[in-house]
Amino acid sequence: MSGNGNKMWGGRFASGPDAIMEEINASIGFDKVLYTQDIAGSKAHASMLAETGIISREDAREIAQGLDTILSELEKGEFEFSTALEDIHMNIESRLLELIGSPAGRLHTARSRNDQIALDFRMWVKEAAIDTEAALGQLMETFLVKAETHAATPMPGFTHLQTAQPVTFGHHCLAYVEMIARDRGRFRDAIERMDECPLGAAALAGTGFPIDRHMTAKTLGFREPTRNSLDSVSDRDFALEFLSATSICAVHLSRLAEEIVIWSTPQFGFAQLSDKFSTGSSIMPQKKNPDAAELVRAKTGRISGALVSLLTVMKGLPLTYSKDMQEDKEVVFDAASSIALAIAAMNGMISDISINTDKMAAAAGSGYSTATDLADWLVRELNMPFRDAHHVTGRAVAMAEAKGCELAELPLAELQTLDGAIHEGVYNVLSVENSIKSRTSFGGTAPKNVLDQVAYWRSKLA
Ligand code: ARG
Repeated sequence: MSGNGNKMWGGRFASGPDAIMEEINASIGFDKVLYTQDIAGSKAHASMLAETGIISREDAREIAQGLDTILSELEKGEFEFSTALEDIHMNIESRLLELIGSPAGRLHTARSRNDQIALDFRMWVKEAAIDTEAALGQLMETFLVKAETHAATPMPGFTHLQTAQPVTFGHHCLAYVEMIARDRGRFRDAIERMDECPLGAAALAGTGFPIDRHMTAKTLGFREPTRNSLDSVSDRDFALEFLSATSICAVHLSRLAEEIVIWSTPQFGFAQLSDKFSTGSSIMPQKKNPDAAELVRAKTGRISGALVSLLTVMKGLPLTYSKDMQEDKEVVFDAASSIALAIAAMNGMISDISINTDKMAAAAGSGYSTATDLADWLVRELNMPFRDAHHVTGRAVAMAEAKGCELAELPLAELQTLDGAIHEGVYNVLSVENSIKSRTSFGGTAPKNVLDQVAYWRSKLA
């Protein structure tokens, strides 16, 4: 072969690249993780080329054997990567040439690195989405165990982080089960859409060789081939959808992390992380810090950053492939490993967390949390319009505040100064337990509802 510089494409070049050119151009430093996908893609391509008579069966057999050798070299860490060879595709092809000689040169028939990277990356992202979805299934199960155990454990429900109404901790856990279920749905939807094989789009226009794209799509585990060659090499929606599903999921985990941080302060004292998921301070011996939760909260920054980064890379690109698209990978790899770690850490924290039920129950009853129950009682028992009941209740709260007591501790005679018709029965609704039990509307916090929902999700997961 003639030409200077790159042995894969250097035919028309008189000199090799500047060192800086080589550095900015190379992706091997990060795309080497795609070797499994690259080799699977090449094997499928070679065997299709043989099936369709484009190359000989003998060449295809040698190519497949050479690729298997390379795969085992890579797995054993014996493969030598070269920056001069830019990326994983050319590193592998060049090694193949060393191993089997001239048949290696036939592998790239009817193919381009443009459809090759579109394929490799899509296969990688699809697998990452499948793994993330499965890990979230585990986290759901962990939450269901907690929800069942704490179906009747009172905790204060908050709005504005101010005590609002008593709820159960089980109900709170199930709120996260709902979020995680939607996250899983987003990954499943994305997987469904990305399940099309771009191999065979070649550089951008398709090819004149009589390839069988349905065959390679099937071999590589895709539902079908993509339908437009231009879109095939320029589309990165699959990565964007993965990052957006990952970002939303990370936001959920971050909100949970924030709650864990708050709950485990001595001031709240609702929960204690296990020693396995907390750290000490090097100077303050009394401290137990929720570092894992804080780091889950922080990982959300780099994950949503990855989404913004790739959106920004893609937004100005004319069809079809531009080298800008090489910058699509690192952020996706980083987001995928970050979310995997965040889910695993959350799973560990939630399964080991101990709930201080006394402290939660006491807090659930403080801050006049059953005021709405009083107003509802006035509507039900005395047929008061809700607005009037709201006003009367407000005055009862002011009365209790002035006396420094809870609503349930106000004497009946004093309540009757607000409305003469108020009777003993009112005390039934002022307790936290009764308040919680009464919330039986569909989706409400009553312990019975919580158990029903646990059963619902268990049957969906089974
Ligand atoms: N390393 C490249 C990437 O990651 C592979 C595709 C190169 N294609 C090209 N026409 N230079 O995007």
